[in-house]
Amino acid sequence: MAFHDARHLIILCLTFLLISFTAGEDSAVMTKLSTSLSPTTWTGTDFCKWDGITCDKSNRVTSINLPSKSLTGTLPSDINQLSQLKTLAVQRNSIAGDLPTLANLTFLEQVILDGNNFTSIPPDFFSGLNNLQSFSVSDNRDLSPWILPETLNQNSNLQSFQASNANIMGSIPDIFESLHNLQNLRLSYNNLTGTLPRSLTGSQIQNLWLNNQNQGLSGTLDVISSMSQLNQVWLQANSFTGSIPDLSNCTNLFDLQLRDNQLTGVVPQSLMYLPKLANITVQNNKLQGPLPVFNSDVIAELGTNTNSFCLPTPGPCDPQVTALLAVAGAIGYPMSLAQSWQGNDACQKWNFISCDSSGKNVTSVSFGKQKFSGTISPAFANLTSLRSLLLNDNNLVGSVPEILTSLPNLQLLDVSNNDLSGPIPVFPERVKFVHTGNALLGQNVSSGPPGSSNTGGSSSGRAKGGSGSSGMVVGIVIGVLVFVVIILFVCYKCYVKEKSQKPGKAQDPENGKVVKASVMGGSGLQSPSSGDHTEMSVFEGGNVTISIQVLREVTDSFSEENVLGRGGFGVVYKGILHNGTKIAVKRMDSSVMGTKGLKEFQAEIAVLTKVRHRHLVALLGYCINGNERLLVYEYMPQGTLSQHLFEWREYKTSPLSWKQRVSIALDVGRGVEYLHSLAQQSFIHRDLKPSNILLGDDTRAKVADFGLVKNAPDGKYSVETRVAGTFGYLAPEYAATGRVTTKVDVYAFGVVLMELITGRRALDETMPDDKSHLVTWFRRTLISKESVIKAIDQTLDTDEEETLESIFKVAELAGHCTAREPYQRPDMGHAVNVLAPLVEQWKPSRPDEDDGYDNDHHLNLPQLLQRLQADEGTSRMFDDSFGQTQSSIPSKPSELADTFGTTDCR
Ligand SMILES: Nc1ncnc2c1ncn2[C@@H]1O[C@H](COP(=O)(O)OP(=O)(O)OP(=O)(O)O)[C@@H](O)[C@H]1O
Ligand SMILES: *[C@@H]1O[C@H](CO)[C@@H](O)[C@H](O)[C@H]1NC(C)=O
Ligand SMILES: *[C@@H]1O[C@H](CO)[C@@H](O)[C@H](O)[C@H]1NC(C)=O
Ligand SMILES: *[C@@H]1O[C@H](CO)[C@@H](O)[C@H](O)[C@H]1NC(C)=O
Ligand SMILES: *[C@@H]1O[C@H](CO)[C@@H](O)[C@H](O)[C@H]1NC(C)=O
Ligand SMILES: *[C@@H]1O[C@H](CO)[C@@H](O)[C@H](O)[C@H]1NC(C)=O
Ligand SMILES: *[C@@H]1O[C@H](CO)[C@@H](O)[C@H](O)[C@H]1NC(C)=O
Repeated sequence: MAFHDARHLIILCLTFLLISFTAGEDSAVMTKLSTSLSPTTWTGTDFCKWDGITCDKSNRVTSINLPSKSLTGTLPSDINQLSQLKTLAVQRNSIAGDLPTLANLTFLEQVILDGNNFTSIPPDFFSGLNNLQSFSVSDNRDLSPWILPETLNQNSNLQSFQASNANIMGSIPDIFESLHNLQNLRLSYNNLTGTLPRSLTGSQIQNLWLNNQNQGLSGTLDVISSMSQLNQVWLQANSFTGSIPDLSNCTNLFDLQLRDNQLTGVVPQSLMYLPKLANITVQNNKLQGPLPVFNSDVIAELGTNTNSFCLPTPGPCDPQVTALLAVAGAIGYPMSLAQSWQGNDACQKWNFISCDSSGKNVTSVSFGKQKFSGTISPAFANLTSLRSLLLNDNNLVGSVPEILTSLPNLQLLDVSNNDLSGPIPVFPERVKFVHTGNALLGQNVSSGPPGSSNTGGSSSGRAKGGSGSSGMVVGIVIGVLVFVVIILFVCYKCYVKEKSQKPGKAQDPENGKVVKASVMGGSGLQSPSSGDHTEMSVFEGGNVTISIQVLREVTDSFSEENVLGRGGFGVVYKGILHNGTKIAVKRMDSSVMGTKGLKEFQAEIAVLTKVRHRHLVALLGYCINGNERLLVYEYMPQGTLSQHLFEWREYKTSPLSWKQRVSIALDVGRGVEYLHSLAQQSFIHRDLKPSNILLGDDTRAKVADFGLVKNAPDGKYSVETRVAGTFGYLAPEYAATGRVTTKVDVYAFGVVLMELITGRRALDETMPDDKSHLVTWFRRTLISKESVIKAIDQTLDTDEEETLESIFKVAELAGHCTAREPYQRPDMGHAVNVLAPLVEQWKPSRPDEDDGYDNDHHLNLPQLLQRLQADEGTSRMFDDSFGQTQSSIPSKPSELADTFGTTDCR
């Protein structure tokens, strides 16, 4: 029967297969190999005679050597059964498909697979390859992304590992301690990220190619200084940071490629004397200091235009520049400094630096709150004109160099809130030396000056050589006094709270209009003993109501003529008091007055009464009248920024100049920075946009509309909330998740900057789709200066080189602020630091604008209050102490600095 015949045939075949299998253990795999690769010249069953195949005495395959044979096909999956295989070399063919595992081929020494079309590497590929010496899989672009396995550390005989252009991702594993035979590591053109692993320390690698990673390797190059066997090092086109390390132990180094990174700092002298150096590239970094000089037979590309060398020709830098570079070096040459500190004149718009009126001598260095880590360089002592040195709120370690006491003009040194240690130097009396918040500073009593270890705070004016015991007595007395003041203050606050919760006057049935009018007590606050810290408490629980009659009267019964504008929550009216003082009254219609409106209203009051700043519109009072709610603000005579930016034709004003725009940007930045970090509590505005930016007479700007401000919770600065705000200004993560951080405001600020540059609205439906969303469109222009220039508002005069440069800087900042990921955006402090010098450049000498609270607009509050009280005919509305709110809140060191006439950078 046919069925039986077939069965016999199958059995016959199987028997044959079994025989051939035992005849040569490798023959099955080799048969598969011969069918899976083509074209081959392989004929006959004796695979040991095939071209490119070598066997040992027992006919086991030891080598498959088929380079450049134009082979296509795949490698069979069970190739790892060729257990005696020592060499697998199939480079430069077109073999495709998944690579089979080679696991457990304990004799395998050489695996050369480069220049093929393999599509994947199995994860256990390398396991058990105890004798593997050389591996190469470079130029297999179709490999699906893979990572270098940690288990490579078991391949301890590896001498060469090459996988350039092989679609590797992830980081370089920290395995080099085990790979002590490795000489050749080539991983160029992949997508490796992360840092150079520490285990490269002391490695014998001679040839290190890690260049051109997609996203870029990062971190410093420090580890290569210990790799003394290096001779060729290609690290170009990555994101390495920090400075070029001392490579003087790498005496065999002949080829060093460092271009296209983020390297900073001064090129070490030793590099110029490396005995074998033949070619070096360092262009496109942010290298600083003097231009390095190499032997004439060295091919060197230094990038005088693409680095930040102080001079385009060799030679030492200006002494102040040299000192500042040493200062930067002590904190690891941060990128922020390398970017801004260009050229050979530290008084040319260098960030954090300000100079005297001659524009020659550095008078202040303001590094407060920059997250700098490292030490305080003694080179500060070479800046002999230095008056103010702010290093507060960083992560500085080490000691305060004694030599700083010799600075002849120093007035303020703030090192508070770092991790400094060592003795506390004794400064001359003129120096205000703030060093709180350094737990270890002055702990070593034996080396510190007597009595200095426990005085803590500012030691300004401390008598020289004051005896230890008297210092201690003073300390105790101060301590007790502070304690008493705190207790009094706490009691007072409780008192005020309780009082403000009870309305001063309840429903007035006869009138039916005045519903609530309370008086804020607190004359005690005026007592001269209250320092500037307690001053802030004035606003807490502050509660200033104004009667509807007064508001009626001053707004001409809310007449149409007095309408200043209309917003989402109602109409804003102008009011003129009898003495001529103007106020703005925001009247929320009862129609929109849901609970939502009420909430917003109360939020606005709660916040505005607490927050006072010269760049935030002041809330003077409020009124609840039945269903109506009214807020009284200081009047901003020039209206909103959006009127000046987008509607200047309608308003028949001239368009803002660039000068005015940067100054507005800086004002807004300062206002928001204050909200974020300087106010006692941190706040997030959530609805920053040009219609919420109001202008005073000389177009000084203030941020308005805190209706949506959300009190940032302490510590976590992020709250999930319902999304509020305005389309076009919403940060992507906020729109998507409702997650609110201060970075939401930074994003909106970036959008406002773009509007200032382009004169275009954040959302412009009249534009074609690809241009209607300003952020998307503008960020695309950032690829080149030319395209930025095209985007600039036509009304701006960009003839001056300086204007253009300034615009570029703001454009870059706008891009930075609108980065997709919140963590990539800077904080407002940074934005202020970038903008401040741009505004500065137009001011010949710095006016002390920071000392005046309100020099653009003089709202004389006591007068206003008197007026209101007279109008009202009673004197129950205000308390004189409210007038105190006029003063700003200078309790931060940075503000102290301002009073010393130093830079605004903080
Ligand atoms: N203090 C002020 N001084 C002068 N004009 C003001 C003042 N406050 C508001 N305005 C004017 O009133 C208009 C409406 O302001 P309002 O804050 O109510 O709305 P908005 O901010 O434009 O919108 P929304 O309330 O939806 O955020 C403003 O555009 C501005 O022209
Ligand atoms: C790799 O395969 C692709 C198609 O998948 C082909 O286009 C390409 O030419 C091949 N490359 C080589 C080097 O054979
Ligand atoms: C390699 O050997 C180990 C241990 O002998 C075994 O567990 C593993 O399955 C082997 N791998 C392969 C792919 O044969
Ligand atoms: C590089 O890797 C990252 C993840 O580390 C990935 O987001 C990115 O898309 C990769 N880039 C390319 C070009 O493959
Ligand atoms: C160079 O090598 C010597 C000896 O091993 C060592 O002491 C020195 O610190 C090394 N220098 C650098 C810059 O690593
Ligand atoms: C540097 O010089 C060496 C020898 O002169 C040469 O082999 C190498 O390719 C050069 N490197 C570069 C990036 O030009
Ligand atoms: C600037 O410093 C130099 C050197 O310290 C000094 O001679 C000069 O008087 C200073 N100039 C001013 C304006 O202070």
